[in-house]
Amino acid sequence: MLLLLGDGGHADVLSDAVGQVITARVVAPGEVPSSGSHIEESEALGYDIGSCEILNGIGFLGGGNVRRQVYQLFVKAGFRFLTVIDRSSMVRNGVELGNGAQILVGAVLNTGSRVGENSIINSAAVVEHHVSVGSHSHVAPNATLCGEASIGDSVMIGAGAVVLPGVSLPTGTVVGAGAVVTRSWPTAEVLVGVPARPISKTEPQ
Ligand SMILES: CC(C)(COP(=O)(O)OP(=O)(O)OC[C@H]1O[C@@H](n2cnc3c(N)ncnc32)[C@H](O)[C@@H]1OP(=O)(O)O)[C@@H](O)C(=O)NCCC(=O)NCCS
Repeated sequence: MLLLLGDGGHADVLSDAVGQVITARVVAPGEVPSSGSHIEESEALGYDIGSCEILNGIGFLGGGNVRRQVYQLFVKAGFRFLTVIDRSSMVRNGVELGNGAQILVGAVLNTGSRVGENSIINSAAVVEHHVSVGSHSHVAPNATLCGEASIGDSVMIGAGAVVLPGVSLPTGTVVGAGAVVTRSWPTAEVLVGVPARPISKTEPQ
């Protein structure tokens, strides 16, 4: 059985990517960040682990904490998350994908890049050669990570943003839509604009 967690837009995208093989769709309580403490009540936790594979259809709403918490809860309970590679994406030789990584419509992952567990590379995003993306991160539609850039865990790269070659961003960084990140930043900030500048610190993960 293939379980799809979540019932919002991201779950619809995954459902489209994997199509007819989904046999059950389960709403995970806690999709709204303020009610994250109720995730433990998900009916999906009652399914027989041995007969289930699972997809994380919780989006990055509210900074991705709920998505990460749901993933970690189900891994702890023994479930195995599937890695999704949309058939329209391009994943070149030598790319490493962690458990539950999701490569969506038209995304490009060039050679030598790696994407950590439970991260999303969204529609038409480009992850260039030898880029490293940590776990539980989100590269939003049309964003570009240039060659040898490195982003940590739980990082959000906004739609259409560009991270220049070799730039390194720590865990918890948020890059606003359309920003151009020209240099590395040592601490987790919300970065916006061209060139990107911090507007605030990010919430602790
Ligand atoms: C950067 C971001 C996270 C900031 O969100 P926020 O903390 O709620 O910030 P606010 O909306 O309160 O804006 C704070 C200031 O930053 C400015 N700002 C916000 N986002 C900006 C952006 N992407 N580029 C330039 N300026 C931006 C606002 O105009 C505001 O400026 P002001 O104080 O002069 O009025 C958000 O605006 C953003 O860009 N998110 C990315 C969304 C996205 O790409 N999602 C992908 C969906 S698949």
